[in-house]
Amino acid sequence: MADIDQAAWRQDFPIDWPQDHYVARRDFTRFLVLASLPFALVQLGIGIVNWFRRNRGRPPAKAIAPLAEIPIGGVLSFTYPDAHDPCLLLRLDDKTLRAFSQKCTHLGCAVTPNADKSCLYCPCHKGYFAVENGRPLAGPPRRPLPRITLENRDGVVYAIAVEVNAS
Ligand code: FES
Repeated sequence: MADIDQAAWRQDFPIDWPQDHYVARRDFTRFLVLASLPFALVQLGIGIVNWFRRNRGRPPAKAIAPLAEIPIGGVLSFTYPDAHDPCLLLRLDDKTLRAFSQKCTHLGCAVTPNADKSCLYCPCHKGYFAVENGRPLAGPPRRPLPRITLENRDGVVYAIAVEVNAS
């Protein structure tokens, strides 16, 4: 009985199975293009946003602290260029100041000076950076920390630019 029903069904709705399973090269190409288009548009959007960020010019200078108030071996937290960009200022000796973005170049955790302040340490995956230049010393980070350019204006330390090194 079921065979007869099925045969009647097939007569009413004949399906050419080989033709049904055949996917033309043109259809496949169309599928690939449609599936890749959103990814390509997202990549294009990211590229445009990055281009605008790179070309928006220097951020305005920002006063961090009077030099006299920063002890030798001291560390100060500040934000630059925006309130959402944490940075660290380190006074290495009498004449040497260094400032870096606090965002680890691996996955963005906050770096902090290690116990003897000889390097900057990221606790997330044990990344280490040199305090002299921000270069990665150990762990997963491959890129140096963005360095903040400092300027002494009448005894006050200012952040005036962000240097992003590619290597
Ligand atoms: S986020 Fe800093 S080492 Fe991974």
